Amino acid sequence: MAFELPDLPYDYEALQPYMSKETLEYHHDKHHNAYVTTGNKLIDGTGLEGKPLEEVVKESYGSNPGLFNQVGQHYNHLHFWNWMKPNGGGSSLPGKLAERVDADLGGFDKFREAFINAGTTQFGSGWAWLALRDGKFEVMKTPNGENPLVHGATPLLGCDVWEHSYYIDYRNARPKYLEAWFDNLVNWDYVLELYEKAA
Ligand SMILES: [Fe+2]
Repeated sequence: MAFELPDLPYDYEALQPYMSKETLEYHHDKHHNAYVTTGNKLIDGTGLEGKPLEEVVKESYGSNPGLFNQVGQHYNHLHFWNWMKPNGGGSSLPGKLAERVDADLGGFDKFREAFINAGTTQFGSGWAWLALRDGKFEVMKTPNGENPLVHGATPLLGCDVWEHSYYIDYRNARPKYLEAWFDNLVNWDYVLELYEKAA
C-alpha cells in the first residue's frame, strides 16, 4: 500500500499560540505531503513497496539516500503530529516515564535541558530526540531525516528543528521554539504509549 498523508489529530488552530495555523498548514499540507508523494514515486521499483514503513526506513538508510530522506521524514512527521497536543507539556510525566527519566537522565530538569540543548546544537536541519536504547532513555540529535531507528534505538519523542517547523512563528529563535514546544505542546501520553510498545 502506498504511503498516505494522515489528517492532523487536532484543528489547525489547536496549538496556538505556540504553533500557528499557518505553520501547520505549510508543515502538514505542503512539507509532509511532499515527503509522502515523493516517497511513493521513489519507492517504485526498489522492491520495498508494500513493506512496513519502519522496515523501509531502516533498509533505505545508507543504501538509497534519495528514498530514505523522504520515508524517514514521513515516519518522523507521522509521529510528530502525535507528539503534540493542545495543553500539552508540563513537568508531571506519567509515572513510568518519570521513573526512567530520573534513573537514566538525572531527573526532569536535566532531561528538559538536554533535550532543548540537543535541538539547539543540531547544526542545520534535523531533530532532537528522546529514545529508548537497551531499556534506557537517551537524548539524541540527528541531521535531516535521520532518526533513532537507524542508530539502533527506538524514538519515543522527537522535535522537528527544520526551519519549516518554527520560522513563521519564531523566526531564527530556535531555542525559544524548543522551550515553548517542550513546555506547552508535548503529548506525554503518546510518549508513554510508544514506550510501553517498545519496552
Ligand atoms: Fe518538518
